[in-house]
Amino acid sequence: MNIQITKTDKSRISEVDFDNLEFGKMFSDHMIDMEFKDGKWGAPEIKPYEKISFHPSMHALHYGQSVFEGMKAYYVDDETVNLFRLDDHHERISNSSRRMCIPEMDKEAFISSIKELIKLDHKWVPKTAGHSLYLRPFVFASQEYIAARAASEYRFIAITSPVAAYYKEGFNPVSLTTSENFVRAVKGGTGEAKAAGNYGGSFLPAQQAQEAGYTQIIWLDAKEHKYVEEVGTMNIFFLIGDTLVTPKLGGTVLPGITRRSVIALAKEWGVNVEERRISIDEVFEADASGDLKEVFGSGTAAVISPVGLIHHEGKNVTLDQENIGPFAKKMYDEITGIQYGKIEDRHGWTYPVKVK
Ligand code: COI
Repeated sequence: MNIQITKTDKSRISEVDFDNLEFGKMFSDHMIDMEFKDGKWGAPEIKPYEKISFHPSMHALHYGQSVFEGMKAYYVDDETVNLFRLDDHHERISNSSRRMCIPEMDKEAFISSIKELIKLDHKWVPKTAGHSLYLRPFVFASQEYIAARAASEYRFIAITSPVAAYYKEGFNPVSLTTSENFVRAVKGGTGEAKAAGNYGGSFLPAQQAQEAGYTQIIWLDAKEHKYVEEVGTMNIFFLIGDTLVTPKLGGTVLPGITRRSVIALAKEWGVNVEERRISIDEVFEADASGDLKEVFGSGTAAVISPVGLIHHEGKNVTLDQENIGPFAKKMYDEITGIQYGKIEDRHGWTYPVKVK
């Protein structure tokens, strides 16, 4: 694949305090840029991270025709950086694009340009255990056009940001609350797409949850307001007895790539995994009977995040507030072990990038 590369003449890496990283605040020296025009995608270009200019009439600003991915690059050693399940991320951004009427991009262009970007900015990949270089590929309608229909010009950009844990709690249990007044997704809507607007719409309820002292919202289904779907920025798992239960996909739940990995690993360990509807009442009943052993979230940014408390209509399910449960810890160690190249990748999930 022919990728034009223009390097920066002034790296900003000395400005980064790698010991105090805040999620999504600092961005590496380079970015990918690719344009869709006249009915086709051009070639990807890698260039210095810079401001982009656009007209006030740029379509995505008005109608939110925009999708994104979240991925990470992991330091293995001075010669290798691992990417994780890149093909799945390409598949998901293609599915999200189709739903948002955005032209899909070629898999080879996506994968090769991301590998090149990582090669070029590999010094930005933090070396501390648990830290990584977060990648944010996104596509948006870039046309100067405000008719309310799909645009005909788009831009694919990928930027990267060195990160530590996503939640301020780090690896400590987070607290969740249901929302009485808001819903995230309805069947037939855009809930299973990683569409920008899905997240924008969740900020007000999330802010209210935080004001009330919780970390995030645990979303219930929009129709019956009964079944658990997902958390603000992650999928959710319940260990009930010896069974791992997670809400099934089906239009309203984001098909998480970490979720998929958790299910595959748990099955490999011989754990019974159920992808099904699970009501919030069932969670409270499992807690009351002593069967609810652990609750944790999964996501690229969140990795595996233990849940210490779930609040719903004035009642709480209280789990271990101090420690991560043994199952979630084992899952965290296994997934991050594979990602950081410490545990053999038996599934072909990692994409090692030789950086030297
Ligand atoms: C991710 O986990 O990568 C996400 O996309 C969550 C993000 C909204 C912070």
